Amino acid sequence: MAIAVSTSTEIPVNPHVALAVRSGLTSMPKRLPPWLFYDETGSRLFEEITTLPEYYLTRTERSILARHGDGIIECAAEGARLRITELGAGSADKTRILLLSTVARQGAVLYEPVDVSATALLIAQARIEREIPGVRVAPLAMDYTNGFMLDPGDPGERRLVLYIGSSIANFERHEAAHLLEKVRAQLAPGDSVLLGTDLVKDESLLLAAYDDAAGTTAAFNKNILLRLNRELAADFDPEAFAHRAVWNEAHSRIEMHLVSRCRQLVRLETLELEVAFEPGESIHTENSYKYLPGEAEAMLSESGFVPAGCWTDQQSWFAVCLGRAG
Ligand code: AVJ
Repeated sequence: MAIAVSTSTEIPVNPHVALAVRSGLTSMPKRLPPWLFYDETGSRLFEEITTLPEYYLTRTERSILARHGDGIIECAAEGARLRITELGAGSADKTRILLLSTVARQGAVLYEPVDVSATALLIAQARIEREIPGVRVAPLAMDYTNGFMLDPGDPGERRLVLYIGSSIANFERHEAAHLLEKVRAQLAPGDSVLLGTDLVKDESLLLAAYDDAAGTTAAFNKNILLRLNRELAADFDPEAFAHRAVWNEAHSRIEMHLVSRCRQLVRLETLELEVAFEPGESIHTENSYKYLPGEAEAMLSESGFVPAGCWTDQQSWFAVCLGRAG
């Protein structure tokens, strides 16, 4: 008698992943969506990227928040009590600066981090509640990119939605504006959004930030292939692909690619799919859009916000802009 044995170590197939991978790898040109980067290893590699000398984004934004945090919070509150919601909170490291400013101002604050990763939320919650007395953390595990609902909040309290860390960078301009419109739809007049955008700068600086000397970004990019090997029983050889970062001037974006080093055939067992690669053929894995000064404010206006302030560093590498729901 034949007995079907299921190996208990198998990861159940996530249909969202299966669908995105099939559609991306059968497209011309081939692509994979950047949210696939963030499995456990990918999230860890991203945290490592934020500490690299070439990756100026995190430390530059942190310096802006450290310098202007009190002013930003003051501007958002306009004398009222604030509640703080954060989209794509991750480790919420930079947020601590703004929470400290808020606690200093009003004594206590409710902080609602929103993230797809429930694990990241639990870690952030424990750390913040331990390190900043006065902050009550109410995490929301959800994918905010598919539309979201926020509870109405107390009358007399204003909500500040943080969308920092250049998280909006993965979206094309019209998608980004649409996402901000969805945020606006959840807010009441007087509430606000704080948007962090990376600015256009010298090409060599941009390229180095996405192709670092230690190879961490290359590992982050290739980790997507290891994830497909594990979750979709694929047989990608990460050595057979090269990490490439390109500055696409016309679209004002850094692109990340995985370029096939040879002619090869890759099998994805779970999808019953075989994918052929020509030498030099790429899988486009990420767009990271860079903004011109004034562009973030214009996008906020377009999405139903009134620009209420914009803060930058001395080199104008990064911008943090506040939009008020009118
Ligand atoms: C998380 C989208 C802000 O675009 O800089 C970092 C992701 N990719 N290095 C960015 C990323 C490669 C990052 N964002």
